[in-house]
Amino acid sequence: MTPLKVLALSGSLREKSHNTALLREAIRLAPAGMTIELVSIREIPLYDADLEARGFPGAVTVLSAKVKAADALLIATPEYNFSIPGVLKNTIDWLSRPPLDAVLVRKPVAIAGAGGRLGSARAQYHLRQVCACLSMLPVPRPEVFVLAAWEKFDASGRLNNAADEKQVTDLLAALSDWTLMLQRGQAIAS
Ligand SMILES: Cc1cc2nc3c(=O)[nH]c(=O)nc-3n(C[C@H](O)[C@H](O)[C@H](O)COP(=O)(O)O)c2cc1C
Repeated sequence: MTPLKVLALSGSLREKSHNTALLREAIRLAPAGMTIELVSIREIPLYDADLEARGFPGAVTVLSAKVKAADALLIATPEYNFSIPGVLKNTIDWLSRPPLDAVLVRKPVAIAGAGGRLGSARAQYHLRQVCACLSMLPVPRPEVFVLAAWEKFDASGRLNNAADEKQVTDLLAALSDWTLMLQRGQAIAS
């Protein structure tokens, strides 16, 4: 069977981001039958309807094409002021503009996050709300909250404990099941 293609997006641009590190760990821990590509959202410009009127910026069309080609998304988000960072919302806002929005509809998405006391939980619930607006289909469970993220990675960016590794592997297994189930459902419906 062709491996499931997962596109991973981090809500943090920071070089030593724990959320980006979490996605690199997902690549390491990916199950057989799944490939994960991490892409940066650094080059996505600030949303501006005037810019859009002149044609979608190249970084947006490239990302949209990658989303289209992927079977599923994996998003790791930090929590900024109880919500998702502006850079992540800005990226989603661009991708939501017609006709690009079609690639998000029914797109399976796994959500995870690394942060402080709540492991970015509040941001993740906001992200689920944004997904609902766009008819994206987040994996319901498990949730992945890497608490006190600054204690959970070693100097090379690897998770230093089995419990957090298990959170990631369980989410990837659920993403695989969820994506295959939705693809089969779609094949029957069409
Ligand atoms: C503007 C800003 C707002 C933040 N707000 C919160 C917050 O509401 N709750 C929280 O737990 N952490 C908050 N933090 C801390 C970040 O979530 C934390 O530093 C996280 O590790 C950043 O993710 P990264 O390591 O992937 O860059 C905030 C950080 C910034 C820069």
